[in-house]
Amino acid sequence: MKLLITGAAGQLGKAFVSELKANRDIQFSAYSRGDLDVTCVDEAQTVIARERPDFVINTSAYTQVDLAESEKENAYLVNETGPANLAEVCKRLDIPLVHFSTDYVFDGSKQGPWLEDDPTAPLGIYGASKLAGEKAITQIHSKHLIFRTSWVFSEYGHNFVKTMLHVGSMREKMNVVDDQIGKPTSAREIVRLILQILPKIENHWGIYNLAQPQALSWYSFAQAIFAQARSLDKNYWSNHLLVSDLQPIPSSEYPTHAQRPANSELDTSKLENTFGLTIKPWQDSLNETIGALQDHD
Ligand SMILES: NC(=O)c1ccc[n+]([C@@H]2O[C@H](COP(=O)([O-])OP(=O)(O)OC[C@H]3O[C@@H](n4cnc5c(N)ncnc54)[C@H](OP(=O)(O)O)[C@@H]3O)[C@@H](O)[C@H]2O)c1
Repeated sequence: MKLLITGAAGQLGKAFVSELKANRDIQFSAYSRGDLDVTCVDEAQTVIARERPDFVINTSAYTQVDLAESEKENAYLVNETGPANLAEVCKRLDIPLVHFSTDYVFDGSKQGPWLEDDPTAPLGIYGASKLAGEKAITQIHSKHLIFRTSWVFSEYGHNFVKTMLHVGSMREKMNVVDDQIGKPTSAREIVRLILQILPKIENHWGIYNLAQPQALSWYSFAQAIFAQARSLDKNYWSNHLLVSDLQPIPSSEYPTHAQRPANSELDTSKLENTFGLTIKPWQDSLNETIGALQDHD
C-alpha cells in the first residue's frame, strides 16, 4: 500500500509520518504546505499524478477556531476549496480520498452522543468551513472517507494537553471550562485506526465519527492530565508542575471569539461495527503522549 499525506507539518500529519516511518509494509510520501498547497489544483494534480498513491490522506486544514471568525475567506479557501481540489484530482485519477473533519460541524445542543446523520449546524466559521469541505468532497468524488474527530492531542503542534502541562508548569491556580464535553482523541491513535481501516475498505465509503472513549469536560480532562502526569513519573512532573488549585468555570467566564459546542460527544459505533474495530480509551494514549513530551524535554 502506498499513501500520500498532505499537511505533513501539522499535528496529525506529523503523527502519520512518525507512525508510517515505523511501518515497513506501507510506502508513503509526505507533503507539507510548501511542497503541496492544496488550494492550488494544478500543484495537487502534478504531485498526485506523479506519486500515484493508493490513497490520498488530507490532514491539511485551517484549524484556528477563533481567528477564523475574522479570516473567513482563508478558512474557506483551505477547508473547502482545498479538499474540493483534492477530490477533483483524486476522482480524475481514480484514487480514494481520506479526509478529516470535526465535531464542530454540530451545534452541541443534543442530549447524548452525535450520530453521523444528525443535523449539522456549525456555531462558527471554522465548523462551517469544515462542513463545506465535507460537502464538496461528497459531491465530487464517491470514493471518499471523511473522519470527524474531536479534541485531538499529541506531542506535536498546539493542543490542550500541551497547553495544560505548559500553563500548569507556570501557575499554581488555573481555571478550566467545565460546561463543554467531548472525547479527547490521540493523533497517533487516529493514524493507527486509519491504517487498520484502509485494507478493509471494500466499498464502505462515507462519513464516520472517530474519537476515543470516554466523553468528559475540559476541566475533567485537565484533572486527568495532571493526575496521569504525576502518576507516570512522580519526580519529573512534581518538579515541573506548579499547579495545585484547578477550578471549574463556565464558558461564560472564558469568552472566546468563536462559540464552542456544549456537547461534542461523537458516537463511534458506525466506525467500530463497519470495520470491526475496538477503540482504546484516551487514557492509554494520554500516557503515551505525556511520556513522549517528557522524553522530548
Ligand atoms: N486539532 C483538533 O483538536 C481537531 C479536532 C477535530 C478535527 N480536527 C481536524 O483534524 C485535521 C488535522 O488537524 P491538526 O490538529 O493536525 O491541524 P494542524 O496542526 O493545524 O495542521 C494542519 C496543517 O495543514 C497545513 N495547511 C494549512 N493550509 C494548507 C494548504 N493550503 N496546503 C497544505 N497544507 C496546509 C498547516 O500548515 P501551516 O502550519 O503552514 O499553516 C498545518 O501544517 C484537520 O482536518 C482538523 O480540522 C482537528
